[in-house]
Amino acid sequence: MFATAFLDIPSLQLAGGTVTLPGSKSISNRVLLLSALCEGSTWVHDLLDSDDTRVMLAALRQLGCSVEAQAGTHSVCITGLGRRGADGKSVGLKKPTAPIEFFMGNAGTAMRPLTAALAVMGGDFTLKGVPRMHERPIGDLVDALRLLGCHIDYLGTDGYPPLRVLTPQLQLDKPIQVRGDVSSQFLTALLMSLPLAAQKDIVIEVVGELISKPYIEITLNLLLRYGIEVKREGWRRFTIPAGSHCTSPGEIHVEADASSASYFIALGALAATDKAVRIQGVGASSIQGDIRFMEAATQMGARIESGPNWLEIKRGAWPLRAMDLDCNHIPDAAMTLAVMALYADGPSTLRNIASWRVKETDRIAAMAQESRKLGALVEEGPDWLRIHPLPQGQWRAASIHTYDDHRVAMCFSLAAFNPDHQAVRIEDPKCVAKTFPDYFETLFSLTQTPAKRIPVICIDGPTASGKGTLSSLVAQQLGYHYLDSGALYRVTAYAALKAGFSLETGHEAAIAAMAQKLPVRFEGDKVLLDNQDVTEAIRSEEGGMNASRVSTLPAVRVALVALQHSFQRLPGLLADGRDMGTVIFPGAPLKVFLTASAAKRADRRHKQLISKGFQAKIADLRADLEARDALDSSRSVAPLKPAQDAMLLDNSDLSIEQSVTLVLEWWQSKQAFSA
Ligand code: DC
Repeated sequence: MFATAFLDIPSLQLAGGTVTLPGSKSISNRVLLLSALCEGSTWVHDLLDSDDTRVMLAALRQLGCSVEAQAGTHSVCITGLGRRGADGKSVGLKKPTAPIEFFMGNAGTAMRPLTAALAVMGGDFTLKGVPRMHERPIGDLVDALRLLGCHIDYLGTDGYPPLRVLTPQLQLDKPIQVRGDVSSQFLTALLMSLPLAAQKDIVIEVVGELISKPYIEITLNLLLRYGIEVKREGWRRFTIPAGSHCTSPGEIHVEADASSASYFIALGALAATDKAVRIQGVGASSIQGDIRFMEAATQMGARIESGPNWLEIKRGAWPLRAMDLDCNHIPDAAMTLAVMALYADGPSTLRNIASWRVKETDRIAAMAQESRKLGALVEEGPDWLRIHPLPQGQWRAASIHTYDDHRVAMCFSLAAFNPDHQAVRIEDPKCVAKTFPDYFETLFSLTQTPAKRIPVICIDGPTASGKGTLSSLVAQQLGYHYLDSGALYRVTAYAALKAGFSLETGHEAAIAAMAQKLPVRFEGDKVLLDNQDVTEAIRSEEGGMNASRVSTLPAVRVALVALQHSFQRLPGLLADGRDMGTVIFPGAPLKVFLTASAAKRADRRHKQLISKGFQAKIADLRADLEARDALDSSRSVAPLKPAQDAMLLDNSDLSIEQSVTLVLEWWQSKQAFSA
């Protein structure tokens, strides 16, 4: 996951390959709650691992369910709260006796059904969330629950969380009325919780037009898997038959998320010209309404083939065809259409999307605002959005604000396929964790772009200048890969000595041959050679001396070129070392040459050694550094010298944070994002 403040996505060009998508958020949280209401255990497979499901799992644990995760898998075993009498019949739930306070984050799919279940179950519960959760309406659900005798108090603003839920006095004789035109999650919440009280038939009536019907279909479908057969008259009246109760299916597989699939369907439609984009885990027969995004994408030009749990997408019509669509049946996936519309042959209109206004953020406003930053002309109404295509020559590099809304972040990543090769900055990229923590990694694994578009920042400088620390911090801040080229020479020298070679010219060809196939891997701060951790061994002073010797062998330098180039991967690279800006990545848009006075460097090295428990004299260290500088600068092979176009950074009097800030400022000035 990218936990950086922003992620700059370089211009992307082609897509292809297979992706296995994470489980559906809607199905995951419904299945978790239903499993908790059962008697006995349920194995839930392919569960989504995200903020929303973590919130739900934590709440279920607090309620007294046992939750057992199988390490290294997406399977969880839930032992529910249901109890059975001596006659084998369900006798209600094991209820917690002490008050419980739940923190629901911004997880709507956990908050609504849990509130309803707790309100019907009874106890003393407080439900809170992040500030945005306290702005998301829940009044209609609370009204419906109060009408049937539930005891719910508002702890902040009326109509919004936080809530306190106490023990109800249920009256279920009359039909229960719930508004259908604000959020279908209210009805889902009632459908999942009322079986807890179904001594008699319970009737729910929907007032107003029911939005997001497909999500109700998912609920009904899953209830059936748990033994509850809700009778339905159109979309107005639902009856939970007397005696209904949750029965564990034993195990259940969660389908991959069809809304997440929309980004990869769009990816195929935009950029899969050669190889298809294949999505594994969800197919045309999915129970999720958002699967019908397929039809909309096809209408816009995508070529889609599908099987029971897979989809394959290729680009068809190009430019995409503009469309005018009622999106009520695909509220979440339709956001993806808004970005596809930028690549269409005319203005596209998305209608009947009022529910967007009360989601993680006001999504109509957000999509309009952010598309305008890219240069697009967008019109919006209370429940519609019209996007005009963005012709070549008019795309701007934009910094996309994401409003803590995973879908805004994922949608706008697709703007990186623009014909003007503008990069796209996604602010707060970790917000995708709500449903798809590895979204950007997955996107990058399926896309290609010419190397010249993948940015490289080079940092070099004399020994003990602090370039390693600076480089890895800058890489971290940008979410870039990090190439410590010095480590490659250190590992090469280590492997050569281990193989019995001497580091002098006599074995140059043999060492070069070895370097060409060096089985080296970087894992965080660790360096692995042939899966063996050699970090400590190569980081010694001796390791540095050996690296210095092997790095003067021209054939070895040549042998390591391809390996170093292979680090230039999306979204970008921070390359640290001697000839990064001159030989390996001469076209890098930013090169930094870091220096500090010999006195300062000796002082820093001294502190470093003391902290590790070594004795050393500053004067000796300084003499060593100066000798090494002289050697490094005067050697004929890859001497230490700044690239011609390098920015000089003397950090003698700067803290490491100040140096990082300065380099990031230089980087910002190289690429202007409209904010
Ligand atoms: O940065 P370092 O101390 O880990 O580098 C070890 C040695 O390798 C040092 O003598 C410089 C040399 N080196 C090189 O010649 N070319 C590079 N790209 C990186 C390091």
